[in-house]
Amino acid sequence: MTICSAPGKVFLFGEHAVVYGKRAIACAIDLRTMVEVTHNSKGIRIHSAFKDEPDKNQYIKTAIKKMQQYADIKNVNITVTSKIPVASGLGSSAAVTVATLGALNEEFQVGLRKEELALLGYQTELEVQGAASPTDTFVSTMGGTVVVPDKKILPPITCGIVVGHTGISKSTARMVSRVKTLKERYPEVVDGIMDSIGDISARGEDLIKRNDYRSIGELMNVNQGLLDALGVTIPELSLQIYAARQHGAYGAKITGAGGGGCMVALCDEKNAKEIATAIGHAYGDSFISRPTAEGVFIR
Ligand code: PMV
Repeated sequence: MTICSAPGKVFLFGEHAVVYGKRAIACAIDLRTMVEVTHNSKGIRIHSAFKDEPDKNQYIKTAIKKMQQYADIKNVNITVTSKIPVASGLGSSAAVTVATLGALNEEFQVGLRKEELALLGYQTELEVQGAASPTDTFVSTMGGTVVVPDKKILPPITCGIVVGHTGISKSTARMVSRVKTLKERYPEVVDGIMDSIGDISARGEDLIKRNDYRSIGELMNVNQGLLDALGVTIPELSLQIYAARQHGAYGAKITGAGGGGCMVALCDEKNAKEIATAIGHAYGDSFISRPTAEGVFIR
């Protein structure tokens, strides 16, 4: 029997632009998905916590298929539990994918290294979603703060993180396709926006190394303006974002594809509670989160 877990994430910078090869920075957070593998004599059985999201089973099935290239996986129970809200920009699909790969890698003694698991995770997301960047699967595998596509690992950030959840379900594929349409219609405009977002990530990397959270927050706000220009923000997210800023957050923006889901604010840990309350009053729910250096691991 093996139990493996993998974390969710927030995007500090660069979602959408990363789809076009620009730089993005994501940070693993302390919400995890757990996958338990046991043996049976009845074939492959999946027991998933994501009952209202049949889509998630597709990630699990595809991850099993990827590992079947390396091991004779026939009679197993895969049991999934998760603390990561689904369809919210917090990387729940990547976490279940990576935790499934990690659990099978251990149970069947396949011996893949973390980098190889991250790659298989990325291939799994690509196969299921049709389009994906390696961000979510890489940060879920490695933990900490990562820069994509460079695949650099930075030290975990050390300030407060507050997440606002609108409870409005979003589709990454739909938002990516909407941005693609905008880019096709106005390439001379949208290409510039993508370049600017990539430049923000590049500056952000340097600021993270120096723990300059005020400047990181300032650039998160600029990044949010550009995401708004791409049409991926909704009024409910804006309410949460402005509430966080008004209550002293260093910066606040959506995390992930937008169109619903979550926003993230960075702040002094002392202010986290006040900011979480303000976000919750503005719209939806909120919670205080913590960065984690722990990527995928076997318990
Ligand atoms: O909302 P999420 O966690 O699926 O993130 C989507 C981020 C995009 O840049 C829009 C797409 C991607 O695969 O990077």
